[in-house]
Amino acid sequence: MIDTKTDVHLDEMSRTQLADYLMETVRPEEGIIPAFIMGDENVNKLEHEKIFMKTWVFLAHESEVPNKGDFITRDLAGYSVIVSRGQDGVLRAFYNMCTHRGMKLCRADKGNKGQFTCPYHGFTFKNNGDLIGVPLQKDIYGGQLDLDQMSLHGVTLATYKGLIFGTWNEDPEPLSDFLGDFKWYLDIVVGRAEMEVVGPPQKFIVHSQWKIGSDNFVSDSYHTMVTHGSIAKLGMVPNAVYSKKGYQVHVENGHGCNIGMPNPDFAFPEELIPEYKENLSADQFELMSKVKNMIGTVFPNLSFLISHTKIKGKLISNTTLRLWKPIAHDKMEVMTWFLVDKNASEDWKNRSRESYILTFSPSGIFEQDDTEVFTDITQAASGTIPAAKNFNYNYTMGMHREPVDDFIGPGIVYPDKFTEAGSRNYYSYWLDLMNA
Ligand code: FES
Ligand code: FE
Repeated sequence: MIDTKTDVHLDEMSRTQLADYLMETVRPEEGIIPAFIMGDENVNKLEHEKIFMKTWVFLAHESEVPNKGDFITRDLAGYSVIVSRGQDGVLRAFYNMCTHRGMKLCRADKGNKGQFTCPYHGFTFKNNGDLIGVPLQKDIYGGQLDLDQMSLHGVTLATYKGLIFGTWNEDPEPLSDFLGDFKWYLDIVVGRAEMEVVGPPQKFIVHSQWKIGSDNFVSDSYHTMVTHGSIAKLGMVPNAVYSKKGYQVHVENGHGCNIGMPNPDFAFPEELIPEYKENLSADQFELMSKVKNMIGTVFPNLSFLISHTKIKGKLISNTTLRLWKPIAHDKMEVMTWFLVDKNASEDWKNRSRESYILTFSPSGIFEQDDTEVFTDITQAASGTIPAAKNFNYNYTMGMHREPVDDFIGPGIVYPDKFTEAGSRNYYSYWLDLMNA
């Protein structure tokens, strides 16, 4: 055990001291996670620098910008970026700053534009980033202004099966390598068919540390029977321990998911089975056919969920993506997207959406249950006491278990969803980056 420290002042530590202190106190391999990492401002600052400025961060789904000229503005590690599909059909992203004198170039959330004109002095940029117009250029610059040197600052993008990620890292690991074996599982969520988001993402503020969301989705199926116990009482799921059966998987780079199975009924549109079989391997399709829910996190803060609910007596799935976007050490913006199989019938899409709205989304029963808990954990983790008194969380669940070696998909797999192996893996990678 770690000695009790009564003289810890995290606010006085340098970055190096803080990283050393994290190495000493965060011990995922022993199932020990100190409470202060969920409530400390300097940990949050270090996360920004070491994680959000370095890794791939989710920005959008490709179906949000399907046509030439479509654009959205999003946040990449606290900096506004424009994600735009050029007239050539190529997806690009730019720092949302005019290269003349720094005005925020685009103030809309979304739209369709071939060019952006700066609201300050009227410089105009094509949606491929080129500067193409400067008012009174010849007269006031004497023909000396080199427009080619003043294109918008590009942001590195990469996509996987419709998911658009960006990074500020100038030498990032290829996205495909970063996702690694997790792609096998992501395919079922976002690559099983042509997928599209419905409407703009919903956004809401929660007074919670962002990691609590990622952590909850990467390995915490255990809370379901208590936090979401009312769902069973309402008859929307069979019983309170329905969430235990299945598997928990984790792979390299902190990614992981929980796969609830088996499912008595196929909860996806049956008419799309040929499309699913075309997009998935036979093993992936077999898993998908048996899935009753699938909940996971792509490190650091993109979570996903396929969940099944009974709507009007029929079992139906809904798929959602959610981003836990840090705003402060004790506050995040949650962005959620409802994702649907594009070629499903309108009736199926509507019922799936209804199932999503009832469960996850700001008005959903699950969402409201969870965010209450996230807020209270953050409050208890904040201030000087948790570090000074060495208060730790217990993440030892399932440490006595060995992974199975005959699961259909890749990764380290446990034959039960009630384990904290996925969180231990998540924090190991988190610690590697914080100490890099
Ligand atoms: Fe944009 Fe001057 S700051 S045109
Ligand atoms: Fe929950």
